[in-house]
Amino acid sequence: MDQIVIRGGNRLSGRIPISGAKNAALTLLPCALLTDEPLTLRNLPRLADVDGFGHLLNQLGCSTTIEGSRPEDFGRVMTARATTLSSTVAPYDIVRKMRASILVLGPLLARAGEATVSLPGGCAIGNRPIDLHLKALEAFGAEIELASGYVKAVAPGGRLKGGSYSFPVVSVGATENALMAAVLAKGTCVLENAAREPEIVDLCNCLVAMGAEINGIGTDRLVIEGVDRLHGATYAVMPDRIEAGSYACAAVITQGDVELVGANPDDMVATLAALREAGATVETTKKGIRVAMSGRPQPITLSTAPHPAFPTDMQAQMMAMATLGSGASVFTETIFENRYMHVPELTRMGCDIQVKGRTAVVRGVDKLVGAQVMATDLRASMSLIIAGLAAEGETQVNRIYHLDRGYERLEEKFQAVGADIERISAD
Ligand code: EPZ
Repeated sequence: MDQIVIRGGNRLSGRIPISGAKNAALTLLPCALLTDEPLTLRNLPRLADVDGFGHLLNQLGCSTTIEGSRPEDFGRVMTARATTLSSTVAPYDIVRKMRASILVLGPLLARAGEATVSLPGGCAIGNRPIDLHLKALEAFGAEIELASGYVKAVAPGGRLKGGSYSFPVVSVGATENALMAAVLAKGTCVLENAAREPEIVDLCNCLVAMGAEINGIGTDRLVIEGVDRLHGATYAVMPDRIEAGSYACAAVITQGDVELVGANPDDMVATLAALREAGATVETTKKGIRVAMSGRPQPITLSTAPHPAFPTDMQAQMMAMATLGSGASVFTETIFENRYMHVPELTRMGCDIQVKGRTAVVRGVDKLVGAQVMATDLRASMSLIIAGLAAEGETQVNRIYHLDRGYERLEEKFQAVGADIERISAD
């Protein structure tokens, strides 16, 4: 397996292009199933998960073509077209590799009146149930059966109907599935306590561009007036706020000065506030966001929570930055039950982190020492790289296939701002 090798100590300086958001792309792609017309997505990131989702769409009868893009360009243009569906089944061997495959459930139900999707199972950060996805769809008239590890959903009479559902827990994926199901329902669908992440707004804006009628976009109450059909559209994926925040943490820990080109500060208010609490200079520029730091980070205290609060997807990266802080930082992870897998690996590099239940106390140390470490999940992997960039000596990060799921051409972007980082291919 490939590994990434970092020789720490270089300050990052220069411009980092921010790619299209993975978590927006993965909910925009299934929108192509909602119409027989072409959906063209621009600024699509080159990521393993995006390619995987394209493969799943092909399995369902949806063609996907990548329009010309030069190798040096970041982002791609993909046109997806489901003129007809050849299948309404998302098989286990695809879903088990990529949990986001569950996001075909709502659109297949809306388009074809039926869907059979493998249960996604858990992952490193938690058991990741989908009960809220199913309850929301049932509120819109779906009849759902769980059998042999699959969800079998049917819309009686071939079409979902109006209804209301109030989420007991904020769920990004369940909100996305419910939205994509509701847009073609017969009647009005209401979602209360809906997720408000920027990726949900991106999904709503794309659905509206396709002819959907959605009120309350950006709020936790979404009212969807079902329409009889949707048409094609061309839509640009929003910039990746988590990628941008990850590179910002790398800039701070290396006492660097970088511009995150294309990043949208409005999507990152809580993340930027945490960086400022750590003592970083954070400024909006014409092209994006400038993040600069001199000296050690100040200690920070944060709790992850649904948007607009601090995002769970930034917890590991922010923690890596805090390991060299001038005091004790306190992190509380309220979303996932097992999202501290990076802690034992960071400890191998000399970090002082004590975990007790959902809370981690990070006592700043004077230096980190490079080591062999293992990536366990996407964001944990990035936290190890961030620490490696500031560690003395060499850090080797193994199992970097996790990284390739969510960070487009990571080593190139880091090399361009002065990091001593390279990918060592296993073969
Ligand atoms: C999305 O996952 C993101 N993934 C995650 O990003 C992100 O961490 C998460 O939202 C929270 O922001 C994609 O968008 C592809 P949830 P999702 O449903 O939708 C519980 C990354 O690193 N829950 O908002 O699966 C769940 O267990 C990934 O890019 C239920 O109980 O997250 C969790 O505790 C990791 N029942 C909480 O809700 C359900 O039916 C939030 O999960 C669904 C969720």
